[in-house]
Amino acid sequence: MELQFNSEFWWGAATSGPQSEGRFHKKHANQYDYWYETKPEEFYNYVGPDTASNFYNSFKEDIALMKEVGLNSVRTSIQWSRLIDDLEEGTVNEDGVRFYNEVIDEFLKNNIRPIVNLCHFDIPIELYQKYGGWESKYVVDLYVKFAAQCFRFFGDRVVDWITFNEPIVIVSGGYLSQSHFPKLKDGKKAVQVAYNLQLASAKCIELFRKTNKNPNGRIGIILNLTPSYPATNNEEDQKAAQFADLWANRLFLDASIKGEFPEELLQILKKDNVLWKTTYEELKIIKENTIDYLGVNYYHPHRVQKPAVSSNSLAIEWTPELYYNDYDMPGRRMNMDRNWEIYPQAIYDIAKNIKENYGNIPWFVSENGMGVSREERFLDEKGVIQDDYRIQYISEHLYWLKKGIEKGSNCFGYHMWTPIDCWSWSNAYKNRYGFISNNISTQIKTIKKSGYWFKEVAESGMIRMPDEWKSFEKLENKKTI
Ligand code: BG6
Repeated sequence: MELQFNSEFWWGAATSGPQSEGRFHKKHANQYDYWYETKPEEFYNYVGPDTASNFYNSFKEDIALMKEVGLNSVRTSIQWSRLIDDLEEGTVNEDGVRFYNEVIDEFLKNNIRPIVNLCHFDIPIELYQKYGGWESKYVVDLYVKFAAQCFRFFGDRVVDWITFNEPIVIVSGGYLSQSHFPKLKDGKKAVQVAYNLQLASAKCIELFRKTNKNPNGRIGIILNLTPSYPATNNEEDQKAAQFADLWANRLFLDASIKGEFPEELLQILKKDNVLWKTTYEELKIIKENTIDYLGVNYYHPHRVQKPAVSSNSLAIEWTPELYYNDYDMPGRRMNMDRNWEIYPQAIYDIAKNIKENYGNIPWFVSENGMGVSREERFLDEKGVIQDDYRIQYISEHLYWLKKGIEKGSNCFGYHMWTPIDCWSWSNAYKNRYGFISNNISTQIKTIKKSGYWFKEVAESGMIRMPDEWKSFEKLENKKTI
């Protein structure tokens, strides 16, 4: 079986500043630099962001490798902590401007479209220490000053801007599950941070619309969508799945595309006395400044069942899990290294949802990928990682994406996480996702089998599905890689 995509399709990959550049010549630490400085034991194998994949020093060679694996578009992010000198005034750092200028030019020289994101979880640590980071609306305004400098210095060449990557992860990782800085457990703060992030995105879009001079320029947001599937058809499980969808997906989807938060969610947050502080003027900005296009990060679905605790229990601190519980569906297909379910069919459901409920806005898969640990297990005698599992993973997701496109969904591209194995927050270098491997002791980078394969896919716009994989046409769900 062959899947043919159109000739304009984006074949790319995504990374971020904090995860690839290394700390070289940065005036400010971001919160992860600081977290590593103070608690290195919380990072896998004690590996921090100091070198990452050395992109600051080796971006020319790295971009040449990206070209070699056929990427026609690449997302990275500008680090606020690198570009800005005086955080209150928003003045720029000369070396920061030079560096990002050269990176953008190098992408363009290689015919790679740079997709530029303004925040991939990172914020200068001083802004957290002084103002509580995203808990503060003053920080929202400082972020807009930083965005203004990005548009001013790079807007002549960058066409595709992104305001945030995965804002819900800043909320849930930082304020609920304690997997990201500041590692708090505070439902009320989580809710306010969610609102402030949406406000920051809308204010940034407002500024972009006022200042952008590039006729093709556009701005979007990247959301990690986790379609919620109820454990059973019972009413309680279905209600739980609806809430999980409201909280994890619709909060930012509705606000970013429709300019309004979902009413059902507002009612619940109000009833529970945790609703964010807002003003009429802010809601107007959110309403009037919706995105031009959407990036969807998809890794795994969310299997949901009724909550374990009752939402009437006043003794319990507010958490979205008052309304649902995760469900470990028996027999589901897992990537055991990352402990994430593999369920490619969800991409079709996402495509359908965007088409039917979000005005068929133009969108692309901005991250998808398979994190595998100890990939040296798969080295062949020539030193190439034989990552057939990744090739199959990508192909299966593209199979379902293609089905969504055939039904009319307005998807224009696919980006894998990530071009070159990069550092990943507290998981550091545990799981590798790249088309290109990185030996973190020597920084020697080597193309994996999937990289050579992707080059052919990108050049031909076509995927060949071997007959033995036919099973995924039947929505089969038990196979393990
Ligand atoms: C994505 C993030 O959700 O997951 C990336 O945007 C991250 O920043 C990636 O690196 C993989 O995460 P992990 O924890 O599996 O290394």
